[in-house]
Amino acid sequence: MTQASPRRLFVTTALPYANGHFHIGHIMEYIQADIWVRFQRMRGHEVNFVCADDAHGAPIMIAAEKAGKTPQHFVADIASGRKPYLDGFHISFDNWHSTDGPENHELAQAIYKDLKANGLIETRTIEQFFDPDKAMFLPDRFIKGECPKCGAKDQYGDNCEVCGAVYAPTELKNPYSALSGATPVLKSSDHFFFKLSDPRCLDFLNGWTTSGAVQPEVLNKITEWIAPGEDGKPKMGDWDISRDAPYFGIEIPDAPGKYFYVWLDAPVGYLASLKNLFVKQGKDYEAFMADPATEQYHFIGKDIITFHTLFWPAMLHFSGRKVPNAVFVHGFLTINNGEKMSKSRGTGLDPLKYLKLGMNPEWLRYYLAAKLSNKNEDIDFNQDDFMLRVNSDLVGKFVNIVSRSAGFLTKRFDGVLATAADEQGAALLADIRAAADTVATLYEGREYGKAMRDIMALADRVNAYVDQHKPWDLAKDPAQSERLHQVCSVLVNAFTLLARYLAPVLPSLASRVAELTGADLGAWGASGQDVARINPYQHLMQRVDPKQLEALFEPPALANQAQEATKTESNNAKKPAKAAAAPAADPNAPGGEALAPTIGIDDFAKVDLRIAKILASEAVEGSTKLLRLTLDVGEKDDAGQPKTRNVFSGIASMYQPEQLTGLLTVVVANLAPRKMKFGLSEGMVLAASYADERQIPGIFVLQPWPGATPGMRIH
Ligand code: MSP
Ligand code: ZN
Repeated sequence: MTQASPRRLFVTTALPYANGHFHIGHIMEYIQADIWVRFQRMRGHEVNFVCADDAHGAPIMIAAEKAGKTPQHFVADIASGRKPYLDGFHISFDNWHSTDGPENHELAQAIYKDLKANGLIETRTIEQFFDPDKAMFLPDRFIKGECPKCGAKDQYGDNCEVCGAVYAPTELKNPYSALSGATPVLKSSDHFFFKLSDPRCLDFLNGWTTSGAVQPEVLNKITEWIAPGEDGKPKMGDWDISRDAPYFGIEIPDAPGKYFYVWLDAPVGYLASLKNLFVKQGKDYEAFMADPATEQYHFIGKDIITFHTLFWPAMLHFSGRKVPNAVFVHGFLTINNGEKMSKSRGTGLDPLKYLKLGMNPEWLRYYLAAKLSNKNEDIDFNQDDFMLRVNSDLVGKFVNIVSRSAGFLTKRFDGVLATAADEQGAALLADIRAAADTVATLYEGREYGKAMRDIMALADRVNAYVDQHKPWDLAKDPAQSERLHQVCSVLVNAFTLLARYLAPVLPSLASRVAELTGADLGAWGASGQDVARINPYQHLMQRVDPKQLEALFEPPALANQAQEATKTESNNAKKPAKAAAAPAADPNAPGGEALAPTIGIDDFAKVDLRIAKILASEAVEGSTKLLRLTLDVGEKDDAGQPKTRNVFSGIASMYQPEQLTGLLTVVVANLAPRKMKFGLSEGMVLAASYADERQIPGIFVLQPWPGATPGMRIH
């Protein structure tokens, strides 16, 4: 069922900063948008799905300088690494561009000029910290100093990580530049402001935000910015949109040495990427954007709501342009029970590693789809849950339908399907077809989780039909040949219908099902036809192997360098799949492994090694590898009372818990704490082992010479 006239859609995801490779949060956003886009294409609509690198801003300029590259070169290098991720996860952008492209320079300047002509740009003189060594104004995050509230050292210019206080950078005590170490000086400069507090803007935003353009929970969040406060004024002030040279960005017209703040030109990058696409396709960008029927949608995460639901619509509206029809906000993806992602700790889910391990991208697409709704809610990637949902639902319930029936059709019936179904099978197929509109409504409303549940409920019914008719039993009895033919034909047809419903989520599988059955799985409305014959069946999807998940979450240091001396490492509840990942031991190298690259004393000084006393040691229920150690590292709490640490150590194969109690050892005391299945681990106990434990078994905990006491540092 396709609407009479196709919709014209312009769809984007947030533009990732071009200072790093994609992380799994980006991929989640792209998958969410890609499912919606593929669904719209299947409905026969015109979709223009674009993204770009967000190239500008001080952090990228500074990172480029550190890397010894021009900013242009720096972002180009990042951009050149995008493709394997996008192709790998089947993200079907129609275009990928850069906010440093000529279209963006032109469009950002044009929008600015229109806003200015509309009386919404104002110049003000402001005082800001300036780094005299670097000869540049310092962004807040490059100013550090002592917290004005609690005195904590080395706090950032906008808030204190120790006491949580929020302040202006000028309030910091003993401020210094994080770039040069120099003491910043206050210097005044003219800045340009977008007058968002203008009553016209507030009027417009009150209307736009309540027009259905944002989710209800998002509206709640932003209302506080635009609704009048106690003093009758809204919290939202005017927006400082300029930065002084040196800055990597777009020059402000008629203002030498002034650049647009990156967040001014970043969303304009949506338009620039679309324009770039249209130029390549020979299509008319202006006409498309002027067409009132064109629909514009932005998929974004919850951290950038104000930019997209206040500043951006106001920029567009008051420069005389089309405003977004809706901004779709998603929550954050967390990994293994809410743990924040961190690359350095190796606890994140590296998307490229996922692909390199040979894990199927459609497992992730399905898993995320099953968890996503249209709400601004965080979702968690949990490895056990992932394996369960993929293996038992996707493979067990869905793929198994065809793997249990296709073979009989090929072997016994030359691949030709029966033309008539038994009564029950016909009813089943009719019910599956009848679900098309419900499933479509769920995709349209981004209720993917509900869509997956509906589809799996249909798969359950198909499996009940399989269990009732048992094709494998029918196959044993030649007299039942016709029934076998009918039952298997119903199953292949049911599977094909379900595969079409899943095609937005599983595009690659769908195209292989199309090859298998000759069915058109690219169009939602093509569900009326029965499959006439099938090609020989080839397995469509493997199950998740737990070893792959273990390898995926193995910290990078262990994977790359086989740092087996850190075997007791608390950061690693599940022992890495050593056989798969650790390189073979080198018998000529000390301890079976070559020395790590040379480091300077400064690198060593970063690792804070302390003497620890093992106060208690106990087995961990549910783990054969770990011991739970209670350590005294000589620390005290705020009240001056002795404080202990909890550390998990993978040494249970070597030591009885009671053997360790009372001993002194060495702990990495400044390792970021890690939340594990069994609790928080606050450090890592040192131990030695041979590179390949299968050759020379044993893990040996380090002990200091007598005289050392808890808390002493190892220098
Ligand atoms: N460059 C800006 C966006 C400019 S849009 C005109 C930016 N870039 S980002 O790289 O930090 O984030 C890009 C997108 O990824 C944002 O929508 C952000 O919310 C999303 N995510 C970042 N971390 C995420 C998770 N952990 N989970 C899901 N999405 C997350 O912001
Ligand atoms: Zn503080």
